[in-house]
Parts: sequence; structure tokens; C-alpha cells
Amino acid sequence: MALFITLEGIEGSGKSTQTKLLAQALEKQGASPLVTREPGGSLLGQDLRKILVQGKPGDLSKEAELFLYLADRAQHVDRVIKPALASDKIVLCDRFTDSTLAYQGYARGLDLENLKHLNLQATQGLQPDLSFLLDCPAEVGLKRSHQRLEKELSSESRFEKEDLSFHQKVREGFLKLAQSENQRFVIVDGQKDPELLHQILIQEVQKRLSTKK
Ligand code: TMP
Repeated sequence: MALFITLEGIEGSGKSTQTKLLAQALEKQGASPLVTREPGGSLLGQDLRKILVQGKPGDLSKEAELFLYLADRAQHVDRVIKPALASDKIVLCDRFTDSTLAYQGYARGLDLENLKHLNLQATQGLQPDLSFLLDCPAEVGLKRSHQRLEKELSSESRFEKEDLSFHQKVREGFLKLAQSENQRFVIVDGQKDPELLHQILIQEVQKRLSTKK
């Protein structure tokens, strides 16, 4: 049964771990979920991702950054997400439109109403059925994220190089978005033990699946 689920949160909030755990649990139940992410969920997106997450803050103007995320999303929705939903798959997407509102809107200061409008155009109106916000303090998330980057020898650190206040604005932005759309969003504590957190998430997914039947 088609269901579009997104996971949102600051760096190091545990989205990727929870996405994997959800996918494994759904596979055990016989589903074949599509696991994807933004930026980078389409072929074009893989190239855009390199530009977007490598390098240093200030390399891209706010507007150039925004339009690259939107291009990534437009291609991803059209070529990957919509076809998967049309063939009745559950789609698990690590970041989506709310990340643009939190990062480019609340943190970079671009106009929120305009961003909502552009998001609608990029997604052809597609919205998630369910979104999880993995909330955690910016200090905690950043620490975890730096540890992961070091361990994986990753150069995907353009946002990790932003200062703490930037990440605090992103966190506050996500909280405001989630509170303003509390039908779609479930806010969870990203500092909880990953297995406990997973139990909360999978229960929510089951609930949505049973109400869709
Ligand atoms: P990731 O490391 O979670 O894959 O995300 C890459 C970075 O891109 C992350 O720091 C958040 C940022 N981002 C935006 O600024 N705007 C967006 O619309 C998206 C999808 C991600």
C-alpha cells in the first residue's frame, strides 16, 4: 500500500539509523519499501549532492543553494518517488520539503511563503502522509555528526561547518513546522535509545497503514 513517509531533523539527530530500522522492519513484514533521501535520491541528485554537501559555508549563494535543492527535489519526485507510490510502495525519505523550510527559510532567512510556493512547484503538489521530526539539541546532534564524518572519512561537512547558532535556528524551525502541522508530524526525542525510538516509529507507521486500508 502506497504511503509516503519522511524523516526530518538536524545533523546527527538519528534520521538515517531510524530510516534503516524502519526499512528492515517493513521488509520483515513482507513489504518492499523504497528507501531514498534528499539531496541525492535521483541520478541527477547524486551529482547535485556533491555540490550541496561538500565544500565550505559561503561557497554557494543562498539563492543558488535553494535552487539546487529544488532541482534535486523536482527530479527526485518525478523520476523516483511518484513512480514508487504509483506502484503501491511505501516510500521512506530521509529529508524532504521541511528541510528547505528549516534550513533555507528559518536558518538562512529566505521568505517562508515563497519557499512553500516553490516547494509545491518542485513536488507537483506531493506531500508526505507522515513525517517524523527527530528532535535533539544542536550541540548533541553536531557532536554525533562530527564523530560520524571522522569515522567515515567523509567530506560531506559543508553544513557541519556552520556555527552552533545556525543549527539552533534549524532546530527551532523544525519544531515550529512540526507544531503547526501536528496531523502530519510526529515529534520524537532523538536522544532516546535507537531501538526504543524505532518501536515508537514503527507503531506510528502501522497506525497510518491500518487507517489507509
Ligand atoms: P544529509 O547530510 O542529512 O543527507 O543532508 C545534507 C544537508 O543538506 C543537510 O545538512 C541539510 C541540507 N539540506 C538543506 O539545507 N535543504 C534541503 O532542502 C535539504 C533536503 C537538505
